[in-house]
Amino acid sequence: MNVKIAPSLLSADFGDLKSDIQMLNKSQADWLHLDIMDGVFVPNISFGFPVLKYVKELSEKPLDVHLMITEPTKFIKEVKDLGADIMNIHYEAVTHLHRAVEQIKAADMKAGITLNPATPVCLLEDIICDVDMILLMSVNPGFGGQKFIENSIQKCERLKEMILRKGAHAMIEVDGGINLETGKIMVNAGADILVAGNYIFKSEDPVLTIENMKKL
Ligand code: DX5
Ligand code: ZN
Repeated sequence: MNVKIAPSLLSADFGDLKSDIQMLNKSQADWLHLDIMDGVFVPNISFGFPVLKYVKELSEKPLDVHLMITEPTKFIKEVKDLGADIMNIHYEAVTHLHRAVEQIKAADMKAGITLNPATPVCLLEDIICDVDMILLMSVNPGFGGQKFIENSIQKCERLKEMILRKGAHAMIEVDGGINLETGKIMVNAGADILVAGNYIFKSEDPVLTIENMKKL
């Protein structure tokens, strides 16, 4: 199976979002990754639902929503109304994770759990069979354009081993500092989906960059 590529809109040109979304529509990108931040869970604020509604109208790609906010379950309805296919919530932001996952699935979305770099994958042992995706942060969340954290490689290998051992169906997505080099390493470590912001949008030819990433 080919690796899936999910460009992160965080690095797009917010002055001309329409052109960037139309460019992605024409590209081989599989999903559109949307980073929602609240300035509390992470030290930054990105965009909210009024902007995302506009994005949804323009995008022909499935929406992969990454909530970097406290109390993400408050917004299940809003995320669903957006037409999101996948809703990712942070392990560190939720007390009753099993309940939250069930609520997301009941809203007819795929449920993803995101881990910060310092959160070990062994904490997923008792939830891995219930989720559709694990999103491994390979940088500290909050900003695009940061350096890839090397420890993410071993984490991804450990997660892949757990998924196989448990017979789980969860996909592995990685997010942060991904380029052709780190992307290749993470695919070899078991990643199914690569998120990339800076590397795609700051490249000379984003459509070609996505095409090259698809070959990993
Ligand atoms: C960071 C976000 C990422 C970010 C990735 O908090 O979750 O999705 O946009 O950006 P790059 O690929 O530039 O590291
Ligand atoms: Zn993200």
